Amino acid sequence: MSRIPLIAGNWKMHKTLSATRTLLAELRLALRDTDGVEVAVAPPFTALAAAAEALRGSAIRIGAQNMHESEEGAFTGEISPVMLTDLGANFVILGHSERRALFGEGDELINRKVRRALISDLEVVLCIGETLEERRANRTDKVLRKQLEAGLETVKPEEIRRITIAYEPVWAIGTSVVASTDEVASAHAFIRKWVTSKLGEEAAGALRILYGGSVSGDNAAGLMALADVDGLLVGGASLKPDKFIPIIEYDGAR
Ligand code: PGA
Repeated sequence: MSRIPLIAGNWKMHKTLSATRTLLAELRLALRDTDGVEVAVAPPFTALAAAAEALRGSAIRIGAQNMHESEEGAFTGEISPVMLTDLGANFVILGHSERRALFGEGDELINRKVRRALISDLEVVLCIGETLEERRANRTDKVLRKQLEAGLETVKPEEIRRITIAYEPVWAIGTSVVASTDEVASAHAFIRKWVTSKLGEEAAGALRILYGGSVSGDNAAGLMALADVDGLLVGGASLKPDKFIPIIEYDGAR
């Protein structure tokens, strides 16, 4: 089954409004042709409206980096899925390891957010991945299984089309240490196998699995050449056009 590759930039807590406009204008100019690949950016909440404006008429998709699990309510400081679609967001990143580790988000909460996002017409990029300690203890598959089982609980096979899984080993995020091709290949194969067994072959065949963690122009092509790697989730290198564009153009095209 052919899956369109997705290259997504997670801006994290970076970029003011003017910096957002500048970056996206540069990106649009450089990427005249995005045929054969889907490009997406996930700016901070405050820049989503400006990003939607800057990307009007472009094929580049827009995502948020988190959301609250409810549609609305007395949740001071939170942002709801309805507000995100209202701003022009197409998808939301959920379960990023920074949300899990620094903001105490557990699998059950992440699952409630996944289900709410689907109801609210947002696609989901669900991040999973093991810590260095877990990898050293040979617990990688176990951790991935638990995060998949809990994160995708009650998700139906037909809904998987609106979900993308991002495998992001925690020890590779922002460290310049990229996982080896063997490590990535084995984790991605494990994820596809798990989805096949739980949700069926068709759902698993359609599912895009991204790799994330210190992706750069130097390693993008090697990662994308792996059988079960359908795209890349890029943090630091998505903040500068001269770093992000070579990743989008990993195959020498465009
Ligand atoms: P990085 O971040 O590319 O800076 O390692 C990836 C991510 O956190 O999604």
